[in-house]
Amino acid sequence: MSTPISRELVDQCISRLRIDEVGNATIREVVALVNAIEEESPEKFVRMEMGIPGLPPAKVGVEAEIEALKDGVASKYPMIDGIKPLKEEASRFVKLFMDVDVKPQGCIPSVGSMQGTYAAFMVSCHLDPQKTTVLFIDPGFPVQKQQMLVMGCPFETFDVFNYRGEALRAKLESILSKGHINSIVYSNPNNPSWICFTEEELKIIGELATKYDIIVMEDLAYFAMDFRRDLYTPGEPPYQSTVARYTDNYVLFISSSKIFSYAGQRIGIMAISDALYNRDYENLKSRFHSNTFGNTVTQRVLYALSSGTSHSAQHALAAMFKAANDGQFNFVDEVKEYGEKAKIMKDLFVKNGFQIVYEKDGDQAVADGFYFTIGYPGMTGGELLHNLLYYGVSAITLKNTGSEKEGLRACVSHVARSQFADLEKRLQQFHQDYPLS
Ligand SMILES: Cc1ncc(COP(=O)(O)O)c(C=O)c1O
Repeated sequence: MSTPISRELVDQCISRLRIDEVGNATIREVVALVNAIEEESPEKFVRMEMGIPGLPPAKVGVEAEIEALKDGVASKYPMIDGIKPLKEEASRFVKLFMDVDVKPQGCIPSVGSMQGTYAAFMVSCHLDPQKTTVLFIDPGFPVQKQQMLVMGCPFETFDVFNYRGEALRAKLESILSKGHINSIVYSNPNNPSWICFTEEELKIIGELATKYDIIVMEDLAYFAMDFRRDLYTPGEPPYQSTVARYTDNYVLFISSSKIFSYAGQRIGIMAISDALYNRDYENLKSRFHSNTFGNTVTQRVLYALSSGTSHSAQHALAAMFKAANDGQFNFVDEVKEYGEKAKIMKDLFVKNGFQIVYEKDGDQAVADGFYFTIGYPGMTGGELLHNLLYYGVSAITLKNTGSEKEGLRACVSHVARSQFADLEKRLQQFHQDYPLS
């Protein structure tokens, strides 16, 4: 049967790039594959594989950064734990949009959230010789597991699909009670599934973190992007959900990449709880010649990794936080387009036989946002991806993200509304070619 992209071309490119199984390809391998196919094909893809912002960077950030550069900050090393205005505005941001108190001291910039999690894992893996292992609540962001690999630190994972609600407690207890876990990591909203933990689930995580004395690494890369509720009213509910309401053992990671479309400048902040920042750990003395959690993150690990975060980018982030805090920059409105596109795209898939894999938070449908998950009855994720490539649609398999479900993660950010008609036609043809019994 004829398909929008020639089957021969797709298969030739797969073997030329030495990809054994498309279903096992990393995000970057899928990107390279689709680039290679597109170079030789008259038809363009509906590209849903990579989670990059599809919007212009926040103007207030760009302007502040240009000003800072004109003022000469490029020649000066910034403080490793961050410039004062950024620390203060970050602390205000956490208060106004989460209703959580973290002193400026614990608000520390990092070179993207990626560096923040790297530094935090590095420390959390050495707090206690018994607690060697990081627990990922999957599905999750694959690069954080790569960080563990690079550090040589062990990790465990489980797919949360079957452990939503109260079932999460017993599952976590069964792992944490062994005594080898130092921290739990998850993203919320979740990359790739776009599930958001309910308050009940966050409470369970927080209570168990306190009970077993472990740290929760809460990755808020998609802060306030649960568009089911409008989370932009500084200082007023509803607030971004967080485990910080239920435990003192937390590090929050707030990235500028998606919420401010500032991915290229590589800046985010980690907010370490006041209690954890100032807590002494005996083992840190021998391992890092240091004392508290906060000092070890900043004066040992970040110092060694990059000696701080780009000075001008810190001014940009301080300005973006300030404008948001002052009620002058509704950053949520700016990114709502992702949710609106997701709603339309999900409908197109569902109308053509696809199912949403991660469908619910409690009894509520998951929000429409940056990602959604799709499966097609009778196909594994790998088969589905391979077949969809012939129809000019690309994504990544859920298997890549620690999910046990068969299906794909679709990212909406780089699909233009002008491609919706094409997407619909291709999915209709796919559905005709692979009819469901
Ligand atoms: C869950 C999650 N965490 C972290 C990141 C990376 O953030 P940053 O660009 O700030 O390093 C991403 C980017 O896709 C993400 O999806």
